[in-house]
Amino acid sequence: MRVATLSTALLAALPLASAELDKWAKKAGLKYFGAATDSPGQRERAGYEAVYPQYDEIMWESGEFHQTTPTNGMKWLFTEPQRGVYNFTEGEIVASRANAERYVLRCHALVWHSQLAPWVTATNWTKDELKTIIHDHITNVMGHWKGRCYAWDVVNEALNEDGTYRSSVFYDTLGEDFIKYAFQVAHETDPNAKLYYNDYNLEYPGAKVSGAARIVSMLQNAGIHIDGVGLQSHLTAEGHPTIDQHIDAISTFTRLGVEVALTELDVRLTLPATPALLAKQSQGYKNIVGACAQVKGCIGVTIWDFYDPFSWVPATFAGQGLPLLWYANFTKHPAYYGVLAALKNATGACSKTHKRSIPLLD
Ligand SMILES: *[C@@H]1O[C@H](CO)[C@@H](O)[C@H](O)[C@H]1NC(C)=O
Ligand SMILES: *[C@@H]1O[C@H](CO)[C@@H](O)[C@H](O)[C@H]1NC(C)=O
Ligand SMILES: *[C@@H]1O[C@H](CO)[C@@H](O)[C@H](O)[C@H]1NC(C)=O
Ligand SMILES: *[C@@H]1O[C@H](CO)[C@@H](O)[C@H](O)[C@H]1NC(C)=O
Repeated sequence: MRVATLSTALLAALPLASAELDKWAKKAGLKYFGAATDSPGQRERAGYEAVYPQYDEIMWESGEFHQTTPTNGMKWLFTEPQRGVYNFTEGEIVASRANAERYVLRCHALVWHSQLAPWVTATNWTKDELKTIIHDHITNVMGHWKGRCYAWDVVNEALNEDGTYRSSVFYDTLGEDFIKYAFQVAHETDPNAKLYYNDYNLEYPGAKVSGAARIVSMLQNAGIHIDGVGLQSHLTAEGHPTIDQHIDAISTFTRLGVEVALTELDVRLTLPATPALLAKQSQGYKNIVGACAQVKGCIGVTIWDFYDPFSWVPATFAGQGLPLLWYANFTKHPAYYGVLAALKNATGACSKTHKRSIPLLD
């Protein structure tokens, strides 16, 4: 049967080959295409228990993804809820499944001002006390998952939008030394894990990108190990950057000799969805995935869950939603095909200096 003889309707009804996203990401030269998944969190939403089998099938069996990040379970709030009392239960739910499925595991996040256990901010610590707290947290949490994480987000969201440091218990007590200290302890704890600085609004050039580049250089100049910068990539359909802006921002970091990953990608839109908004959303995904696939040194893409009802967006941004690639009924957004197009496009011949070398198609 020749494809050319098939009607459009029949073509549309054909099931898609499995493993599309991760397969094409690898053909485009990336290490992985992945989806974060949750425990605990949105998954516990009442009324959604019945979707777990279908959800898990796409998450773990479909071949679409070959990487994951626990969206919540490794955060301080869950892993050290009281001082010296460690709890790896929630983080293990995702980590052990990821290891069993041989997924690349990104581990998230060690030192962050948010979703922090309340005891950390309840006392005015001396510098030495807070360093001990950071040390104990990193050695215990990272030590627990030692050898199992491809990468750790060591410090998360240390910057304001203008590139200055954000006020937090860590910065207010230790200044920028908290970043140096966290990366130092992290490298001593698991020397094989890639150590990342992770933040949002690093996807287009500006003061915040400069601030993150300053952090990379600060660590490198101090002889402290840093491997990568995570661009969270929480974007909006209505105002997403251009592909050239993404390439510019990503290249700012790769030029410093660190790798880049898109770590929490989603492209939210203002509800209700219209065909025009869904097209903009698709273009937003296409731009950033296309940029990552084209820049040597951008190594992988993680979407922040794949299933709209389990996204953090509706609870955080009033009136916005549908930010992921699968709708509530498990059909795919137009943006799914936008991502595929960007990945397929990046496997074609192309010779600009910022491009990665193009791997052969199999
Ligand atoms: C650890 O966390 C799990 C899951 O949140 C919880 O059920 C359990 O009670 C916790 N263990 C301890 C010792 O607090
Ligand atoms: C910490 O110090 C500030 C400023 O000196 C003070 O206002 C605050 O009450 C102190 N907090 C605690 C928990 O002691
Ligand atoms: C498609 O590939 C071309 C050539 O490498 C590139 O210039 C263009 O930006 C790519 N488009 C996308 C959406 O990735
Ligand atoms: C699935 O949901 C989407 C978004 O609400 C809708 O556009 C589509 O028609 C639905 N598909 C089916 C087969 O119900």
